[in-house]
Amino acid sequence: MVRPGPDPHSYAQPDEARVTHVALDLDADFGAKRLAGTAALSFERSADATELVLDTRDLEIEAVLDRAGEPLEHRLEEGDAVLGRPLVIRLRPDKDEAVVHYRTRPDAAALQWLQPEQTAGGRLPFLFTQGQAILTRTWVPTQDSPGIRQTYTARIRVPAGLTAVMAAESLTPAGIAQVGYTTYEFGMPEPVPAYLIALAIGELEFRPIGRRTGVWAEPPVVDAAAEELADLEDMLEAAEELYGPYRWGRYDVLILPPSFPFGGMENPRLTFATPTILAGDRSLVSLIAHELAHSWSGNLVTNATWNDFWLNEGFSVYFERRIMERLRGPAYAAMLDRLGRQELDAEIARLGPDSPDTRLAIDLAGRDPDDAVTRVPYEKGAAFLRTIEAVVGRERFDAFLRRYFDTYAFQSMATSRFLEVLRADLLAGDTAAERAIRIEEWVHGPGMPDNAPVAASDAFDRVEAEVQRFVAGTPAAGLETTGWSTHEWVHFLRGLPEFLPRPRLEELDRAFGLTESGNSEIRFEWLRIAVRNWYDEAFPALERFLTGQGRRKFLKPLYEELMKSEEGREMARRIYGVARPGYHAVSTNTIDAIVGRQ
Ligand code: BES
Ligand code: ZN
Repeated sequence: MVRPGPDPHSYAQPDEARVTHVALDLDADFGAKRLAGTAALSFERSADATELVLDTRDLEIEAVLDRAGEPLEHRLEEGDAVLGRPLVIRLRPDKDEAVVHYRTRPDAAALQWLQPEQTAGGRLPFLFTQGQAILTRTWVPTQDSPGIRQTYTARIRVPAGLTAVMAAESLTPAGIAQVGYTTYEFGMPEPVPAYLIALAIGELEFRPIGRRTGVWAEPPVVDAAAEELADLEDMLEAAEELYGPYRWGRYDVLILPPSFPFGGMENPRLTFATPTILAGDRSLVSLIAHELAHSWSGNLVTNATWNDFWLNEGFSVYFERRIMERLRGPAYAAMLDRLGRQELDAEIARLGPDSPDTRLAIDLAGRDPDDAVTRVPYEKGAAFLRTIEAVVGRERFDAFLRRYFDTYAFQSMATSRFLEVLRADLLAGDTAAERAIRIEEWVHGPGMPDNAPVAASDAFDRVEAEVQRFVAGTPAAGLETTGWSTHEWVHFLRGLPEFLPRPRLEELDRAFGLTESGNSEIRFEWLRIAVRNWYDEAFPALERFLTGQGRRKFLKPLYEELMKSEEGREMARRIYGVARPGYHAVSTNTIDAIVGRQ
């Protein structure tokens, strides 16, 4: 029986044999919803190693051969539903390559196969992968731990008319055309953890933005996407000025069809993003700054296990706001900070202030890491870094971060190690600073320490004054809202009383066109209010929103709100019944638990 190794979410035993390179050769079969082919694994082994242990989940293994084509003895052990099944390959002396012949299952959790009607173009099908946290094992048999890095190459065959892109260097930009299909080749020369291996196939076009940047999207979306992301090259430059050279060559963004379950995913060289950030006014691009930030925090210095997730996300939120500060100024970044803090406070209230899930350092052994994704690692993590910055000063903290990314580039980082580095390098005996920061309380304690700086925002003060005027009876049309950005609107909507009588909701809606807002963040906040207050005029828009996109962050609170009343439950079940087949497994996993399987 193989048990998880040093990473509680992987069966890999890297001290015995560790994968160093994966060569993929896969056919994409849209009819059967399968990827099929081979993964050739190179590995390093200790002299007395007898086995190579890989992670797999729902893979159909057909054969395991050595380089010469001779079978290698192997067994697929029992595992569990979350971790999958370890594939144990018996090693023979002097062998350091194994070729796994396999195919994926149609319901592989990392893969979403979309019908043409689920795409923007509507003509051709689409496939995309989502590896984080532990889903890569459902499409690549490798060691799926963030602490194990590998380079990779891939040869991907797709039906003619479709384009394949990967989070890697493209070696055949136009593809190699054969009768009925096209082959694309990729290489990732930098070693990456398995969760960052990513592929998308669809009717895709590219628009360059800057020297190193550009955007991929379906034809009907690509021009709007290029407009929205016009700041991409500036963002990249701002990030480099802050924390050192970008080490991945190109930085492109792929806009996915609406079912993409996340806002963004930091796949190296090619961030995957939801189309719900295309607001038309560049107001939601801090999400791209966040994914770009992961090119340092996460992709370069990687959380050692999912218990250290806050090292990826807290740093990236902090870094995202520093990038936005450079691009749009401190007042803009302050608004992002304040909205983040509100989400954190709400999350901690929901979890309970003593909940272990409100700690930065958590223990996820035996749990699905995806279940513990809350605002805590993001916003408490960022607030911790802001606290350190406030204590030691920005200049000293920035210099430290630069050294940190440089020193630990392409390595993994555990929380305990980070604290050692923090103490030895940044604090270096400065006991006054250490006392002021309160490291232990931040990292190992629950809830929010009271020494976190809160960003002042004049803009939000003005919004709060308008909320007060509205509550005191000023008609919506008489409020002073000229020039409000998305963030001010979101703050306004969150600041309204929980319950409002219908005429007041109608007033707001008439004055500001909230039900019809084309901005996904504003629309989401408004729909939440609409459900809570049973403002049924917005329900057709609610239904369109729930069936038209699959971003978990938007779906979860809306379904939760619906489930609070009998009529709401009926509506949730009906809408979910229709929408569920269009959602990604990441989202249905969450929503099944709220609404029940429809
Ligand atoms: N790496 C995450 C997405 C993720 C986290 C996928 C955990 C799977 C498991 C990504 O960088 C992210 O945090 N995306 C956020 C947006 C961001 C601006 C906070 C999202 O998708 O909402
Ligand atoms: Zn992130």
